[in-house]
Amino acid sequence: MSDDALPAIEGGTPIFEDGIGYGGQSISEADKQAVFEALEGDYITRGPTVEKFEAAVADYVGVDHAIAVTSGTAALHLAGKAAGFGPGDEVITTPLTFASTAHAAVYNDATPVFADVKRDTRNLDPEAVRDQITEDTAGLIPMHFAGQPCEVDEMLDIADEHDLTVIWDACHAIGSTWREKPAGSHRNAAVFSFHPVKNITTAEGGMVVTDDEKFAERVRSLRSFDMEYSPEGHEDEPWFQVTEGVGYNYNVTDLQAALGLSQLDRIDSFKQRRKEIIARYEEAFSDIPGLHLPTVKNDVDPMWHLFAVEIDEEFGCDRKQFVNAMHAENIYVQVHYVPLNYHPLFQERFGYEEGQFPNAEAIYDGIVSLPLYPSMDGETEEAVIRAVQRIHQYYT
Ligand SMILES: Cc1ncc(COP(=O)(O)O)c(C=O)c1O
Repeated sequence: MSDDALPAIEGGTPIFEDGIGYGGQSISEADKQAVFEALEGDYITRGPTVEKFEAAVADYVGVDHAIAVTSGTAALHLAGKAAGFGPGDEVITTPLTFASTAHAAVYNDATPVFADVKRDTRNLDPEAVRDQITEDTAGLIPMHFAGQPCEVDEMLDIADEHDLTVIWDACHAIGSTWREKPAGSHRNAAVFSFHPVKNITTAEGGMVVTDDEKFAERVRSLRSFDMEYSPEGHEDEPWFQVTEGVGYNYNVTDLQAALGLSQLDRIDSFKQRRKEIIARYEEAFSDIPGLHLPTVKNDVDPMWHLFAVEIDEEFGCDRKQFVNAMHAENIYVQVHYVPLNYHPLFQERFGYEEGQFPNAEAIYDGIVSLPLYPSMDGETEEAVIRAVQRIHQYYT
């Protein structure tokens, strides 16, 4: 066997000398210039560039209001609060997500109730959601897994039937559409994350988007200390600013917003590049037994945040071996996600246990996210393909 055929984990030479991740930012000269200009402006904390970024995202998504906050997690926190989730309320969401999705309930002392996902799309299964409805259900938090939107109409029907508030966790999905409507444009509100691995980045950052003016006002106030800056009766006392509730400092800076605006200008090219990489992966992997490509629905146009394949025994090794073999090649693939019912927080506080969500758990057993980011060049793409092929060939 030539050294080229020997996986690094078995003693071969790693495909990459320096590590590559499963995702990452693409920063252009224009991005850098935008941040530099913001740094020279009068505001380096929340100022006019944040407002411009909010208006640009609202316009892009097609909603009336956008409120920038420090992360997707902060956006979920405030959206859950503005939705009025509180003690005694149950909020239904997916177990196949990042913990922050459920924290929109947990932060607000409501109970996260998990419903299983669909085996093919990995998104919440509307039938499973229906099974979890009780008289205490107050809301739904569907998450658009990897950028592929959920079945929006079914979720909204359920919400209408049971008078529920829907918060879309669209952290993966800015740039995606469902029946030609942008992800994030549906009621009641949606949240985005601008972490560097996401579709556009502000380093850290997030956003709440909504058409509901009252909801937006509540989020805006909570973001910034829940202060009333000009209380009635104190018009001639400009210093008289009072705290109305327990608010937060989730303010973002003009520097982040400048980067966000510049990244939003590039979103179409990012989407295109992500599509091209996936097309090449699909071509290379379609005939590898035991490597299953993501299922795409007809009525969606995802901006793929992740390229998450599933590995089964026919591939030659299991997912654990595969991840470790890829890491030995210095390709830092990742698993999205360890189901939330496996986490101590959800087990100890809410009584979840392993084995409750057959689809989410079957997906977890095989899933792995391969590198996907717009700055990935053709050579890197081919090297990742070579690594997958050599691991498969060695173990079969
Ligand atoms: C589905 C989902 N929701 C929420 C978050 C939280 O976003 P952030 O990292 O910006 O707090 C993430 C981030 O990883 C996510 O993937």
